[in-house]
Amino acid sequence: MKPKVVVTRKLPDQAIEMLAPYCELDIWPAEDEPIPRKVLEQNIRDADGLYCLLTDTIDQTLLDQAHRLRVISNMAGGYNNIDVGAASRRRIMVTNTPDVLTETTADLTFALLMATARRIVEAERFLRNGEWRTWSPMLLTGQDIYGATMGIIGLGRIGSAVARRACGFNMRVLYHSTHRNELAEQELGVEYARLDELLSQSDFVVIMTPLTPQTRNLIGARELALMKPTAVLINAARGGIVDEQALYDALKSGVIWAAGLDVFEQEPAMPDHPLLSLPNVTALPHIGSASIRTRVRMAKLAAENLLDGLAGKVPKCLVNKEVMEEN
Ligand code: GLV
Repeated sequence: MKPKVVVTRKLPDQAIEMLAPYCELDIWPAEDEPIPRKVLEQNIRDADGLYCLLTDTIDQTLLDQAHRLRVISNMAGGYNNIDVGAASRRRIMVTNTPDVLTETTADLTFALLMATARRIVEAERFLRNGEWRTWSPMLLTGQDIYGATMGIIGLGRIGSAVARRACGFNMRVLYHSTHRNELAEQELGVEYARLDELLSQSDFVVIMTPLTPQTRNLIGARELALMKPTAVLINAARGGIVDEQALYDALKSGVIWAAGLDVFEQEPAMPDHPLLSLPNVTALPHIGSASIRTRVRMAKLAAENLLDGLAGKVPKCLVNKEVMEEN
């Protein structure tokens, strides 16, 4: 009998073609609507595998119903939507899709940085709204990128890829991480800094760390107050890392100059979100890895991880290696 796999969203065909020969698929068919919790709770009861997205909360309560579940394959680099500890205690493998999205996400992060610094979205709106009367000396002036100082919080794969792009812009790059990375310091010419130092010296503060209990609200009112009044904050990692109320206050009162956000505490962010009322916010709907090629590669990698786990092999991107050690 084929293992039963719950798939929480319509996937690219390439991933379905990989899974279909080996699994009995139970697919939530909508492309733009998450599977309702009740449906997931029902469908997970006799599932051997779960193919999910970052919009699905996979918590202890859900796992309590998943008596047969052996593998959770998340089609995302981040996996803060999954209670990994609870999965490990039940010997359920958790996998993610790192690497394939690194360069695409770094591209978007840099695009967001440039758009925010040079007020690209605001300028386009200005033009389309018919507000352009004449060229004038200080019209829509922004911040320089070339030669500025970038502070990267979290120098993992994507953080390092952003640092490489910054080198091309002749930027000084500071980083703060739980571990000092001497290899990256040599290869990329980045400098380690304490968080407070990084915040006070950087023209661009770029958040590239995963959301964990330790990084939740890492950037709050105190941290924002340490930044330069001309500084730009970029977050393309996870919303919960920045205290949104504190960020709103800082942007409104000029404590910092602007923010570029691809992620929000609550997603989807609604049009009446206070941050969206500010002209110095450039906001995107969580599209960091959204190139066609990368999303297909992520979907296929998640399928490969799932199939390997179900076949009793160690999946390429196993997050909770302790599950294998116990077996
Ligand atoms: C997107 O945010 C991801 O983690 O893949």
